[in-house]
Amino acid sequence: MSKNFYVTTPIYYVNGDPHVGSAYTTIAADVIARYKKSKGFNVFFLTGTDEHGQKVEETARGRGLTPQEWVDSMAPKFVDMWERLNINYTDFIRTTELRHKEAVKKILKTVYDKGDIYKGEYEGKYCVSCETFVPENQIINNNCCPDCGKELRTVKEESYFFKMSKYQELLLEHIEKNPDFILPISRRNEVISFIKQGLQDLSISRTTFEWGIPIEFAPGHITYVWFDALTNYLTAVGYENNSELFDTMWNNGEVVHLLGKDILRFHAIIWPCMLLSAGIKLPDKIVSHGWWTSEGEKMSKSKGNVVSPVEEIEKYGVDAFRYCLMREVNFGNDGDYSTNSIINRINSDLANDLGNLLNRTLGMYHKYFDGVIRESGKVEEIDLNVISLYDETIKIIEEHTGKFEFSKALEAIWRFISRMNKYVDETTPWLLIKDETKKQRLATVMNFLIDSLVKIAVLTMPYMPEASQNIWNQL
Ligand code: ME8
Ligand code: MG
Repeated sequence: MSKNFYVTTPIYYVNGDPHVGSAYTTIAADVIARYKKSKGFNVFFLTGTDEHGQKVEETARGRGLTPQEWVDSMAPKFVDMWERLNINYTDFIRTTELRHKEAVKKILKTVYDKGDIYKGEYEGKYCVSCETFVPENQIINNNCCPDCGKELRTVKEESYFFKMSKYQELLLEHIEKNPDFILPISRRNEVISFIKQGLQDLSISRTTFEWGIPIEFAPGHITYVWFDALTNYLTAVGYENNSELFDTMWNNGEVVHLLGKDILRFHAIIWPCMLLSAGIKLPDKIVSHGWWTSEGEKMSKSKGNVVSPVEEIEKYGVDAFRYCLMREVNFGNDGDYSTNSIINRINSDLANDLGNLLNRTLGMYHKYFDGVIRESGKVEEIDLNVISLYDETIKIIEEHTGKFEFSKALEAIWRFISRMNKYVDETTPWLLIKDETKKQRLATVMNFLIDSLVKIAVLTMPYMPEASQNIWNQL
């Protein structure tokens, strides 16, 4: 198995501030990156911003700014947000950077030289919010986008097309041969049936606005923003300017894209077709997660119920926020973000279970032994139970983390924590201390407790880096 691990988040649109949705994907990527690093993998973790396109151009103009001024003011908000959330990425890419423009030029040229791009005319509907062409038969409510519900524009312009239909069978074959290519399984089936309905060629150039990467072989045309954006995953690992890095991370690494279900089709259909055409290896895993609502409702600016990570961190702390997002729902499922459930999690899992185990153990160690470690005595049945539960926990964590089932991995860690709290109740150190002949048994018990906290600090590190460090420091 490869020891190089390349994980990406979507690059986020800069038409609005980062919110709980973008934070969610980014935290998940951070968790898996930290986990893989702790296992000795050579990890490259990429995130960034998607800065071109009609939506960004219109948002900028609406504020009386040039698109460049606007994106320059927005990108730092993402950098800042990820810093607050303790996101330890390797690289942050902005699609307006020169390196990215060069990479897009290169892939366009490669696909063009292959004979997979031809000139035509696009006539139909376009959703600016999703930056997507919407076929007639998918329009809803008279003239609205099936994905976001917003009003569609009618577009009629000269356009270059990518022969996506040509790759339909190859892509299907790849998906069928690689059961882990699209995760979770339910989403994989959805993609397969979509492809089987037949792929259409994709319009990959626009002419009616300016904010995009010019196409060398097509004067007056700029690159369709999704064709531009998807290429970021290649840019950052040196597709155009660092063949050694590209070889390590892309060709000889495990490549994993994390994203929300809203943009699965772009990643599981358009992206692989682009790569097939360009003769580039396909990513190993495309993992899509569910959708967060807020207090039971779809988040929207007009409802004013968009969850702000900044506020949540201020209220609960970074680690509690990270923990709750990862614990509350299983990665593929939709979930609801509610103050009630967050507070319950914090009280029961973090304060009662983990906090209690740590405080009780340290308290007793100081009280009974002045904080000095004593030599253990004979290991008893109950101690062995704890050891075997730990070994089992490690296996369960490996299995679930490998499948991006973060909440199940956390569940296993918390089963171990609960077991250790029960261990305290069962071994009753406060009675052992009263009996001179039980001194060594007390040392054994206390050492088992300290050792379990060392283990818990390691296991929780990817999820709660600060809290984990704190436990270390206290130990
Ligand atoms: O789509 N629940 O950018 P974007 C869960 N630029 N996740 C959510 C969410 C929610 N309510 N809202 C957003 C784009 N997300 C493109 C991507 S990639 C080459 C280009 C997360 O700013 C989720 O990961 O709309 C979703 O896929 C991503 O934000 C979309 O961010
Ligand atoms: Mg979006």
